[in-house]
Amino acid sequence: MDFMSRSKSYRKGQKRFQMIISSLWAWTAKENMHGDLLNKYLYLSGRVDMRQIEKTIQYLIGLGMDMKLENNPYRICIYTSFKERETFISHNNTAKLVREHGDTELVELCGFIAADEKQHETAYSKIIEKLFEIDPDEIV
Ligand SMILES: [Fe+2]
Repeated sequence: MDFMSRSKSYRKGQKRFQMIISSLWAWTAKENMHGDLLNKYLYLSGRVDMRQIEKTIQYLIGLGMDMKLENNPYRICIYTSFKERETFISHNNTAKLVREHGDTELVELCGFIAADEKQHETAYSKIIEKLFEIDPDEIV
């Protein structure tokens, strides 16, 4: 493929990616809701020092995180597809452990979040599949 065709293909991929990203904004709100739900659960349980939780959150935000994605939309998509699977497994496993201890409300909460994450994983897998189809040279 010559440079112009490859460049055109890349721009086409970029355009499609932007459309996909636009439809993903709602997910950001959903992910935030997951954090809020778990935070409120911890607060209402009365079993943790919320001041320490909030301090930890602020430290994490303050430190930031460099995932070495280099603002590359393909890398971001691939990273996120794995991250969605990881959070699905994590919340699902937490639900299983909590079930053994009889906290049905937390089981329900973790199950709810795990189900969302499974949907996200499925969607990202389809996105990656499509990107491989439309722009295999760049995504690899
Ligand atoms: Fe997610």
